[in-house]
Amino acid sequence: MPKKKRRSKKQRSEEELLEVEEDSRITRELEDADQLQKDKIDEKNIKIKDSDALKVAESVLDVETKTTLFNLRKRKIIDYMTGVISTGKEANVYHGYAPDGSELAIKIYRTSTNIFKGLQIYIIGDPRFARIKRDQRSFVYAWAKKEFKNLSRAYKAKVSIPEPITCVKDVVVMEFIGKKELPYPLMKDVELKKPLKTYKEVLDNLEKLYHDAGLVHADLSEYNMIYTPKVYFIDISQAVLLDHAYAEIFLYRDIKNITRYFKAQKVDVIEAEDLFEKLTGEPLTDRVIAFEF
Ligand SMILES: Nc1ncnc2c1ncn2[C@@H]1O[C@H](COP(=O)(O)OP(=O)(O)O)[C@@H](O)[C@H]1O
Ligand SMILES: [Mg+2]
Repeated sequence: MPKKKRRSKKQRSEEELLEVEEDSRITRELEDADQLQKDKIDEKNIKIKDSDALKVAESVLDVETKTTLFNLRKRKIIDYMTGVISTGKEANVYHGYAPDGSELAIKIYRTSTNIFKGLQIYIIGDPRFARIKRDQRSFVYAWAKKEFKNLSRAYKAKVSIPEPITCVKDVVVMEFIGKKELPYPLMKDVELKKPLKTYKEVLDNLEKLYHDAGLVHADLSEYNMIYTPKVYFIDISQAVLLDHAYAEIFLYRDIKNITRYFKAQKVDVIEAEDLFEKLTGEPLTDRVIAFEF
């Protein structure tokens, strides 16, 4: 396995801080543009065909989010949304079309509930959150941006992951992994055709994510992998950089989930401790083993 590439901690955090600054500049510009648009919003400009989807959309999308979607339409990123694919605790995922007819997954974070509480463990110690204001809306925007950045980082490292398209405020737009408005199933809901092949594919992606993207997913399981039968990792907002205080703890949890799942599929798996050591080049410590969530 290739050796871990690491920039110095100082160099890395300076780069990350610059990124945060750049982000807030872009956010400010977008906000100014949005403000100009605000009086002119016509909600019908975002067409939502399905009536159930409309109901859900109505209940979660506030005026700000509708404005963001309207602007994404003006920027020719989204043409229209067809309906909701999933309603989760922190976000809903919608299906939509781009003007060129390609299908999109549009993940919209909730600005109405306090998601910060449950997520603190992923944020403390992350330099990318160093200067984020602690009010709810700013936090949710930063969280959405984190998902987009993690997606971009992983995509660049050739991890099998939906292609990131854009992120504005609480809206993350990405490639839709599905066909004709139907998403491919999650790995938890299918019978694997070739379990060993899929296992190897998952390990390959895990290795690329760790070594090439420098990330630990931190919520990896059959619930966050799409099966086409090619495997896609999804739901990467909580992923952390390798020097996060809990990176190894999260990695070990991810590894245990994968190992448990593929053991149940009768694959002759590498034991979790061995896989951890193989991947990181270091043995498990008591701190990692003993950690309880
Ligand atoms: N890019 C995508 N293409 C197709 N379906 C997706 C995509 N992203 C998410 N989904 C669907 O939406 C569901 C929820 O997305 P996820 O990112 O896991 O959010 P949550 O935080 O709610 O778990 C997934 O289980 C999957 O079915
Ligand atoms: Mg999920």
